[in-house]
Amino acid sequence: MRIDILSLFPHMFDAVFNESIIKRAQDLGKVEIHIHDFREYSKDPHKKVDDTPYGGGSGMVLTCQPIFDCIDSLKTDKSKIILLTPAGVSYKQKIAYNLAQEEHLILICGHYEGFDERITSLADMQLSIGDYVLTGGEIPAMILVDSITRLLPGVILEDSHLNESFNNNLLDYPSYTKPRIYKGMEVPEELLSGNHKKIAEYRYQESLKKTEKFRPDLLKK
Ligand code: ADE
Repeated sequence: MRIDILSLFPHMFDAVFNESIIKRAQDLGKVEIHIHDFREYSKDPHKKVDDTPYGGGSGMVLTCQPIFDCIDSLKTDKSKIILLTPAGVSYKQKIAYNLAQEEHLILICGHYEGFDERITSLADMQLSIGDYVLTGGEIPAMILVDSITRLLPGVILEDSHLNESFNNNLLDYPSYTKPRIYKGMEVPEELLSGNHKKIAEYRYQESLKKTEKFRPDLLKK
């Protein structure tokens, strides 16, 4: 998979993309990530990328030209273009699975007070990572890249994501490791039984309980 990211702050991605599983996935050739500072595409003599809003109001609005030109230079018939915005559709694990099937993603990070609405005409999808407003789309773009990269074949063991939270609309079951007793807290007896059927049933029941407690909305689905 190839991922291109349009951002005014390309260095924000340095640490996140150069550590751990995302780094390994790139080293293995499973994903190729390119960051583009769309200011470089600005035709303004001062490389301006924003302007005051028509109709008045506070803040600056990202202009169309640099983003349109940058997309033009990257887009092919295989590209899926995603705009990160708090006004988008809520990002979910199911969307991550669908996006992991794509060959080429282009992520547009908005910034400042907003962007010219005509920029939405470039996007196949507008995504929000949650009901809160961040200073820009960079952290949301990192979240997309992380959640999608780990689903690419050969990046992590498939078993690791078949049994995890949000599959079947259930949160993950609790895990324990050694020691058996820590500060008086014991590992549940069922997990020590060696009886695989009993362990599976226990884990399923614990998943249900956790989901009821923390995310009852998932059970309604
Ligand atoms: N940009 C600012 N806030 C955002 C959010 N919650 N999701 C996606 N992009 C954003």
